[in-house]
Amino acid sequence: MPTLAQPLSVPDAAHARHSIRAYSPEPIPQASIDTILRETSLAPSAFNLQPWRFVVVTDVAAKQRLAGAAYRQKQVTAAPVVFAIFSDMADTLEHLDQIMRPGASPEQVAGFRKMIAGAFASKTEAEREEWGHEQGFIALGYLLLTATAHGYATSPMSGFDEAAVKQVLELPASARVVALVAMGRAAEEGAPHHRHDLDRIVRKI
Ligand SMILES: Cc1cc2nc3c(=O)[nH]c(=O)nc-3n(C[C@H](O)[C@H](O)[C@H](O)COP(=O)(O)O)c2cc1C
Repeated sequence: MPTLAQPLSVPDAAHARHSIRAYSPEPIPQASIDTILRETSLAPSAFNLQPWRFVVVTDVAAKQRLAGAAYRQKQVTAAPVVFAIFSDMADTLEHLDQIMRPGASPEQVAGFRKMIAGAFASKTEAEREEWGHEQGFIALGYLLLTATAHGYATSPMSGFDEAAVKQVLELPASARVVALVAMGRAAEEGAPHHRHDLDRIVRKI
């Protein structure tokens, strides 16, 4: 498997990634987790709002509780690390100052705030939360690819009871859970890729 010093290229990682549900129990170095999250956080988002947040679950008892909220999917307890990706639009919109580029003038800050207020003014709270939830899937894609690039297998999951996950992880009421992602060293090969031909899903005009 590649090491952190020799990560796979994006095309190689795209080909190498498979959903893996059986893992070697060896713990993942904190430095690897931090690198993967740092690279995941480079994902783009509309207005650069970055509404995604992460919980890194390595505690065995916490993973057991999380598995209970995820229909007992075996990868939740088998993997040494499980990430929960969630969005939090209340936290995002309350801290717009944190996403201003360094050196922004007071006029630019005011203009940005006005633009964001305008963009979300017509949305209900539920629609705002849905917007943040959608953005979170961009981070999910980045996480899956960067983990693979660094030699780790993953299993993305949307099979969970969102309210139960929020309770187990003590997430704020404004959180929307995007996905759980088990990560570790693979102990199985995973299924070969089976995908549509491009002719089936692409139209060129
Ligand atoms: C958003 C998302 C949610 C998924 N949820 C689950 C899940 O809850 N349980 C599971 O075993 N696999 C889940 N999968 C894995 C898919 O079944 C898998 O990606 C698909 O069959 C293609 O296989 P591959 O990932 O090996 O290429 C999920 C994948 C994605 C992207």
